Amino acid sequence: MESHLPPASGATRAASQLESLPVEPLMTRDFDARPALVYERLRARYGPVAPVEVFGVPVWLVLGFREVLDVLRDESRWKKDVRHWRGLRDGRVPEDWPLLPAYRVNHMLLQDDQQHAATRTAVDAALKPFQDPRQPQGRSLVSAVARQVDELITFFADGGSTGWVDLCAQFSRPLPLMVVNRLFGFPVEQGDEIFMDAWRMMDSGPDAAAAIERLLTATTELAAHKQAHPGEDLTSRLLAADPSMTVDQVGLELYAILVAIADTTSHSITNGVLEVLTGNSGARASLTAGIISELVNRVHIASPPWSNLTFRYPVSDTVLGNFRLAAGDVVMPSIAAAHGDPVFADAINQDSAMSSRAHLAWGAGPHQCPGRGLADMMVSAAIRRLFERCDLELGLPVDQLPWRSSTYVRGMRSFPVKFRMRELPGPVLGAGGPRPAAASATVAPARDDDQATPAEPDQPRPALRRFMASLRRGVPVIGEGMVH
Ligand code: HEM
Repeated sequence: MESHLPPASGATRAASQLESLPVEPLMTRDFDARPALVYERLRARYGPVAPVEVFGVPVWLVLGFREVLDVLRDESRWKKDVRHWRGLRDGRVPEDWPLLPAYRVNHMLLQDDQQHAATRTAVDAALKPFQDPRQPQGRSLVSAVARQVDELITFFADGGSTGWVDLCAQFSRPLPLMVVNRLFGFPVEQGDEIFMDAWRMMDSGPDAAAAIERLLTATTELAAHKQAHPGEDLTSRLLAADPSMTVDQVGLELYAILVAIADTTSHSITNGVLEVLTGNSGARASLTAGIISELVNRVHIASPPWSNLTFRYPVSDTVLGNFRLAAGDVVMPSIAAAHGDPVFADAINQDSAMSSRAHLAWGAGPHQCPGRGLADMMVSAAIRRLFERCDLELGLPVDQLPWRSSTYVRGMRSFPVKFRMRELPGPVLGAGGPRPAAASATVAPARDDDQATPAEPDQPRPALRRFMASLRRGVPVIGEGMVH
């Protein structure tokens, strides 16, 4: 093993055969529980780029802030199209490799150059009015999210003044998918079914390929339906933004958007609540001051939900960190590791009231997140309202919280929390059920200026309501929720 270490001087090694390096597996219990320690160990051993193994396949993990930024930004040297992946071309990736099904789908996240730019232009245009609160579509979405947040809180409280809730299964995971349902214009019954499959897909489990298939069928059928019956939704706007896109292509892009929204937003909410409850990263101070957008930014620095990004491949032999990578090697940029790089971490002023916006939680370069406004709005609304209506206490010691085992995202499988409802002066939106009882206040958040306006309540989706009710009926909150 020693002979494969980079030279102490940091001088670049001769071309390294990724396949022949004795690499250690990334996906271990240690990684699930304390990924930051694993990144630091790799950084100390190899420098800003480390060879690792992901379910038996060797991968370059990029840990350095500057190196990640370079890979994300320089599209002329780093490609995303899987056709550049030498190991896949040469048949060295096993057919049953758990991450493979997701790389077999051709959408914007896995495209380059002109093809990517054309799709991205259409997606940006289609998303625009939904992310602009001055537009009717944006205003209406803000109101809908506020209602949905209240609906979920009222549902888990179930008329009681105090109790237990799994904030993953009963709050942070249903919310973004309720939003997807509305944003995409899914017919109600179909929308419920996609919830489960989005989670199966992201977990790269044995049923991921079948889940992807079902998701694509759902999004493609939706695109066909909206082509015949356009409405005021993202699907119809995407079809109109680039009429040259086929229904199948629109279905693929909707699938990509759905996958990009679901787990990132969900984990951003629970990671935010956790940071507040543990008093970490200045999140609690931001909540108390009512600066929710600042809280969310701090959480994204401390705990970026999309921790490791999808693969990139160098087009020619190239030097990165202390290694010379071969053309077509597989490279995974790690946002979480880059945020722990002293180059970035040491430059952050922990005492400043405003945290740095120069982080990588939204990515960088041509694939940088196009849904940032929407994500900020959802996450802020969820966290703000949760702490307005409830006092929360951790249900487990921090070191016993069950983290999900995932290559890409960082979040909890379940998040058991004890709640106590507060008495509120105003009406509860979309809450249909009984009003919560009085309770004491521990954190008193002020309101952001982007407070939602009331609107007519949504009917809760039947499958979601059935599932949530089953959770409420005595299923232990420490269980793993809907899907793992
Ligand atoms: C807190 C929530 C979110 C986080 C942390 C997040 C983060 C990211 C990151 C890091 C990327 C870059 C991926 C890469 O370079 O490989 C990305 C891309 C993307 N995100 Fe988000 N995202 C969030 C929410 C959303 C939402 C709400 C949408 C909905 C519209 C969305 C849509 C997308 C899409 C479509 C891409 C692919 C863009 C492309 O390839 O050009 N994301 N996101």
